[in-house]
Amino acid sequence: MVGKVYIVGAGPGRKDLLTLRAYELIKKADVILHDELIGEVADLLKESKAEVINVGKRSGRHRKSQEEINEMLVEFAWKGKIVVRLKGGDPCVFGRGGEEAEYLAKHGIPFEFVPGISSAIAVPEAVGIPVTHRRYDPALVFITGRESRERLNWKALAELNATIVVLMGVGKIPDMSEKLIENGKDSETPVAVIEKGFSDEQRVLITKLGELAETAERENIEAPAVIVIGGVVELYSILSEFCRDDEEL
Ligand SMILES: C[S@@+](CC[C@H](N)C(=O)[O-])C[C@H]1O[C@@H](n2cnc3c(N)ncnc32)[C@H](O)[C@@H]1O
Repeated sequence: MVGKVYIVGAGPGRKDLLTLRAYELIKKADVILHDELIGEVADLLKESKAEVINVGKRSGRHRKSQEEINEMLVEFAWKGKIVVRLKGGDPCVFGRGGEEAEYLAKHGIPFEFVPGISSAIAVPEAVGIPVTHRRYDPALVFITGRESRERLNWKALAELNATIVVLMGVGKIPDMSEKLIENGKDSETPVAVIEKGFSDEQRVLITKLGELAETAERENIEAPAVIVIGGVVELYSILSEFCRDDEEL
C-alpha cells in the first residue's frame, strides 16, 4: 500500500513555535527528510523513531538536488512509508513545497501540507517589528532575492504602498535597493535587516533604503536574513526594548 508524504513547516527555528500537528507527525514518521534551516527543531528529531535524512542545501554546498529529493519522496511513499518532508518556516513560502507537491501528485502519491510559521513574519515580529500596522502601508509583499530581478515588476513594487519583506535577499541588496530607488521608492524608507533570527547570533540592523547597500557591506551581513522595507520599521525604536523572549514561561 502506498504511504503518504507530509510537507511540513518547521517554523522559524524555535521548538515551541512548531505546530502540534508537526510535532505529532515527527513522532509518527518512518522517514524524515529535512532542510538545513530548522534550528532547534533538529533536537526534536531525536525523539522520533524515524530514519532522519538531512537533504538541506546551503549555497555552494548542495547535499541533494531537488530532483533527487523529489525521487526520494516518491520512492519512500511507494514503499508504504509515512514520510515527513520538513522545511524551515512554512513549506510553501519560498520553500518549494508546491513543487514537491506537484511532483507527488503527478506520481499519484497522497500528500498533505502542514503549515508552519514563516520566518517572513516571525523573524521581524520577534524583534519588535510587526509587518503590518494600521498607521503604515495597507499591503504586505513577500519577495525573494533569487531570480526576482528579471521577473519582478519593480516599478509596480516601488509605487505600491506596501511593506516589502525580502527573503533570500542578502546577496542582492545593492541591486535590489537600486532597482527600488530608480523606480521611485523613497530612499528615506526605513529598512531593517534581521540576521540569523531566533539564534544566539541574531543581529538587527536599522537603516534606510538609500544606505542599505553600504550598511550591508560595512556590517558584513550574512544569510539567513529577513529584510523589511517600509514604515513599520519605525516601530522597532518603540517596541524592541519591551519585546522580549528571554524569560521562561
Ligand atoms: C528558502 S527560504 C525559506 C523560507 C521559509 N519557507 C519560511 O517560510 O520561512 C530561506 C530564507 O528564509 C529566511 N530565513 C529563514 N530562517 C531565518 C532566520 N532564522 N533568520 C533570518 N532569516 C531567515 C532567509 O531570508 C532565508 O534566506
